[in-house]
Amino acid sequence: MFVSRFLLSVTLLTAIDAVAALETRACDDSWIEIVDQTDIDFYKTCPNVDGTLFFIDHLFKGPFELPGVKSLPEVSSGYLGPKLKGSDRVDDGVTSVSMPDLTNITSGGILFGYVNNLTSVSFPNLNTITGDLAIIDSYPLRNISLPALTTVNGGVLLDGHFDQISLPSLKSVSFLRVLSTGDISCPALGAAFASLTFTPKKTDIYSGFTCWTGYENNRWNSSDPEHNPTIDGTSPTSTGSGSGSATNTKASAANAPRVGYVEMLLFSVGVLCLSH
Ligand SMILES: *[C@@H]1O[C@H](CO)[C@@H](O)[C@H](O)[C@H]1NC(C)=O
Ligand SMILES: *[C@@H]1O[C@H](CO)[C@@H](O)[C@H](O)[C@H]1NC(C)=O
Ligand SMILES: *[C@@H]1O[C@H](CO)[C@@H](O)[C@H](O)[C@H]1NC(C)=O
Ligand SMILES: *[C@@H]1O[C@H](CO)[C@@H](O)[C@H](O)[C@H]1NC(C)=O
Repeated sequence: MFVSRFLLSVTLLTAIDAVAALETRACDDSWIEIVDQTDIDFYKTCPNVDGTLFFIDHLFKGPFELPGVKSLPEVSSGYLGPKLKGSDRVDDGVTSVSMPDLTNITSGGILFGYVNNLTSVSFPNLNTITGDLAIIDSYPLRNISLPALTTVNGGVLLDGHFDQISLPSLKSVSFLRVLSTGDISCPALGAAFASLTFTPKKTDIYSGFTCWTGYENNRWNSSDPEHNPTIDGTSPTSTGSGSGSATNTKASAANAPRVGYVEMLLFSVGVLCLSH
């Protein structure tokens, strides 16, 4: 299954850090791990990278700029869950990610999880993501703008301190979930995403467009229109927030036959919440 492979590779990648530099690089490598500029300088000569995994290493530091590459199997950086007390895991040092020529994520998704120093991501020509788009707890990253993104076959989960989310070309996604502690307007996003087409999958843990902030009059649930606030911020007529049902849905993700980044992230968050 995809996630077990993903988790396995995350574990293994840490272990093979030391030997990676000794291997010969090739555009058709199945696992690509970018540790430093030497790796970037090689892979920027590959217009299409097939493989299964493209990982920005925990040890990579500073701005990550990869021109030239048009398609990648997936892009991931960071971790799937928060750092536990006493853990000696290495914090990611990447500060920005820019792939100006990337148009297609061909087999997986994009994941940035717990990337503590990440301030910007730029994929100006990215059109299609075959899997999920998940950006989790990477708090310096305040603005997300993916101007060309049209289709996400999986779900989108944006959880962080966002002040701006701009997906102006998006037409189709299986679900779109935003949680923000930043300065964002859920009703404005609700209006912006009003004509999105949702292509739900059986295993999705969310549906439609849902947006959550700490303020009850700044939330949105496209599946529950009568409880949505108006754009000018008038309170909804009823309370009844969906947190209970959301928790149940998270738990059921454990049994899902197909599990993507989003489900895996929520499952790990759910487990951590239960253990508190
Ligand atoms: C993250 O940024 C802080 C502040 O600039 C810096 O001290 C720290 O070393 C950076 N972390 C990594 C892993 O590069
Ligand atoms: C993206 O890549 C996939 C897999 O190679 C392909 O099926 C699809 O047509 C591509 N989409 C675009 C918009 O290039
Ligand atoms: C982020 O978005 C906000 C709100 O649109 C804007 O005021 C701010 O300048 C943007 N910041 C950056 C770094 O682009
Ligand atoms: C959105 O509303 C639907 C219908 O009431 C509900 O089943 C779902 O749990 C809600 N989603 C969230 C994230 O609150």
